Amino acid sequence: MREDVIKAAEILAQFGVVAMPTETVYGLAGDARNDFAVRKIFKLKGRPTFNPLIVHVMDLSAAMKIGEFSEGACRLADVFWPGPLTIVVPLKPGAGISSLVTAGLDTVAIRSPAHPIARMILAESGRVIAAPSANRSGQVSPTCAAHVRLGLPEVDFIVDGGETMRGIESTIVQMGPDDAHVILLRPGPVTIEAIAMATGLNVITDDGRGENLRPIAPGALLKHYAPKAAVRLDALDHLPGEGVLGFGPEEIGAGVPFYNLSETKDLDEAAQRLFAGLHWMDEQGVSAIAVRPIPLQGVGLAINDRLNRAAAQ
Ligand code: TXA
Ligand code: MG
Repeated sequence: MREDVIKAAEILAQFGVVAMPTETVYGLAGDARNDFAVRKIFKLKGRPTFNPLIVHVMDLSAAMKIGEFSEGACRLADVFWPGPLTIVVPLKPGAGISSLVTAGLDTVAIRSPAHPIARMILAESGRVIAAPSANRSGQVSPTCAAHVRLGLPEVDFIVDGGETMRGIESTIVQMGPDDAHVILLRPGPVTIEAIAMATGLNVITDDGRGENLRPIAPGALLKHYAPKAAVRLDALDHLPGEGVLGFGPEEIGAGVPFYNLSETKDLDEAAQRLFAGLHWMDEQGVSAIAVRPIPLQGVGLAINDRLNRAAAQ
């Protein structure tokens, strides 16, 4: 592993890209200060250039060199970093971040990953790393090295850290203009309940006039998480040719592709297994996936968000 980390850092130094594990999903990493490296990321992913990338840093002090952290934003970082929370803050002038990373916006999305391998690569390279999920734009995010190899065969080097622990992408938030509440841009492993509890801040998902604020994350507008199979949500039955994505104890007839997200209805486990389940269904060649209902609480909000996008094709 040590050798892989050193090789990854060398590739980053030459402005190449590498796939690396984070606790959420695998990322396609490049030096966030180098236009050439960042351009390569966009090209490999087939990502539209208006969709900005997340910058990965070691800690809050590194983040503060790139972005302007208000008191509220600092509190969020103090509580949840390192971990699966991305904070969107005003970009610091002269931070040297490639304008391709921010898609020309005056804000920047930053997170400090908790995965030991991502942290080793940050430490060894001494760089700040731009890393979107390591999948072709619009496809299901990778939670193991095999998913990356399959989805992005052109990637020269993958640091294999096994399966990721959280299984879905980081929660993305931004502080409201008054710094007293948090706007949720993308639900994820850090739940709105946890944010409210730990910080005392109010978490809102709209602007108070019923206008949904989520599309502020430009990527949220795009088609996403599309498996080859059609996705049918809240299904209590299954139709011929369908596979079943289960949630809770269930026995299913032989011959029906069945992948249980969590037999014990554990939402964290379901999130961890979600993308692997979608990838697995495509490997089985099912025409459609019947998904059992998953409650809209805690991480269930993020699971349903990803499933809704997978179903909207
Ligand atoms: O867990 C994760 O966040 C993973 C791992 C690799 O860290 N990364 C990830 O990146 O999910 P990506 O590119 O798949 O999603 C980044 C999202 C996009 O929806 C993008 O629009 C949003 O972050 N974003 C980036 N910069 C932003 C900004 N300045 N304002 C609002 N949204 C931003
Ligand atoms: Mg992505």
